[in-house]
Amino acid sequence: MTKKNKVIYICKVCGYKSPTWLGKCPSCQSWNSFEIQNELKEEKNLNKSVNIEALKTFSNVDSIKFQKIKTNIEEFDRVLGGGIVKGSLILIAGEPGIGKSTLLLQMCNALAPVGKVLYVSGEESPEQIKLRAQRLNILNENILILTETDLEEILNYIEFLKPTAVVIDSIQTINNSELYGITASISQIRDNAVSLLKIAKKTGIPIFIIGHITKEGGIAGPKSLEHIVDVVLYMEGDNFHSFRILKSYKNRFGSTYEIGMFEMTEKGFIEVKNPSLYFLNETETENPGSAVGIIIEGTRPILIEIQSLVVPTSMPYPRRVSEGVDYNKLLLIIAVLEKHLNLKLSSYEIYIKVAGGMKVKEPAIDLAVASAIISSYQNKTLNNSKVFIGEIGLTGEIRAVPYINLRVQEALKCGFKEIILSYNNLNKIEKNLKEKIKTIKNISEIFNFL
Ligand code: TYD
Ligand code: MG
Repeated sequence: MTKKNKVIYICKVCGYKSPTWLGKCPSCQSWNSFEIQNELKEEKNLNKSVNIEALKTFSNVDSIKFQKIKTNIEEFDRVLGGGIVKGSLILIAGEPGIGKSTLLLQMCNALAPVGKVLYVSGEESPEQIKLRAQRLNILNENILILTETDLEEILNYIEFLKPTAVVIDSIQTINNSELYGITASISQIRDNAVSLLKIAKKTGIPIFIIGHITKEGGIAGPKSLEHIVDVVLYMEGDNFHSFRILKSYKNRFGSTYEIGMFEMTEKGFIEVKNPSLYFLNETETENPGSAVGIIIEGTRPILIEIQSLVVPTSMPYPRRVSEGVDYNKLLLIIAVLEKHLNLKLSSYEIYIKVAGGMKVKEPAIDLAVASAIISSYQNKTLNNSKVFIGEIGLTGEIRAVPYINLRVQEALKCGFKEIILSYNNLNKIEKNLKEKIKTIKNISEIFNFL
């Protein structure tokens, strides 16, 4: 019996299979996306003999060393995993106005001594860019500005100039006349990114693409690029505070644990090399309601000050306001304090804030939040040479937290005299770090340390 050559139609966009041709894909709703494929072809291939040499064990595979260009903006090189890898496509995403254009213009300036850098802007005129450059005091002749939105043109310029690096500001403004669809539609953004990826790989030129995201965490645009590009960096922060964190979400050439910290000033970004000093309240005075904790961002421990204000109220539902600490987490800590310390917090309004505007999600901060609340409630100043590290459980137990040695080292480095942490963390702490440590098992013991 001869097998008939069976054909199948596959959607180019989402891979949906259908025995007949369809005008519109029922799965992803794309129009005219079906392509014919021969189903038997694959089966036949299976009988072919294989090339045994194509199989490799790890010892047969050469280790790659990526060539990295250093910008010497240390915080920037750090998130990239030590520098810019040649031929890589890097996405920098963030809300409008957060500072993406500023940072990348500063990067161009840092690279300018090496050679020409191409800054393609579809958003601003050369005059506007010059205005920013003047403010940043970077008017290097090696920075070439191109105001262009047509992809083909941009690719021509890249091929022609062969710059050290390219910045595309932003991917949402790039338009491809060869493609159907609207500028900034997801499929256009994706196709344009693929074209940029190809030219980056072909020429070895690193290309940075800027992508705007909305407050809610991203319109589909930049998100849909994450699997195409080699590196994804997000710039975070808020308009009311000057610090910005550059976080790596994906990096084909390095770890994604690194973060870069910057401060936006009148003259652009400056690096924050010691985040702990930056976040601890500058004033030396000790105030009731303030306690210090440590968070880990990436691989870096950062000391932060938690501030609390506890004021009496006659309202039946006292207000709880939290800035920088999860609201539900605050309610939980308050409930634990009421239950296990017998604090009458239901007749007090409670406000919590992380000084400096940082947003903290780590449970390790619980003990510092609790201490700040108690300190304000009692109107008693905590000695500001103390650090509190620990997660609070529902039964009041103080739980161990990860990276304890990193945290302790940072606290000691910054001159803190007493580190209060979970008893369960004690066996993990290196001997030479133990001197200034005091341990706590349950929140009911907290008054011994305040
Ligand atoms: P920008 O880089 O244009 O943001 P994005 O490209 O992410 O949209 O930065 C815009 C903000 O930064 C703007 O509100 C002004 C501020 N800024 C400074 O505070 N100092 C500076 O030196 C510069 C250039 C900008
Ligand atoms: Mg911009």
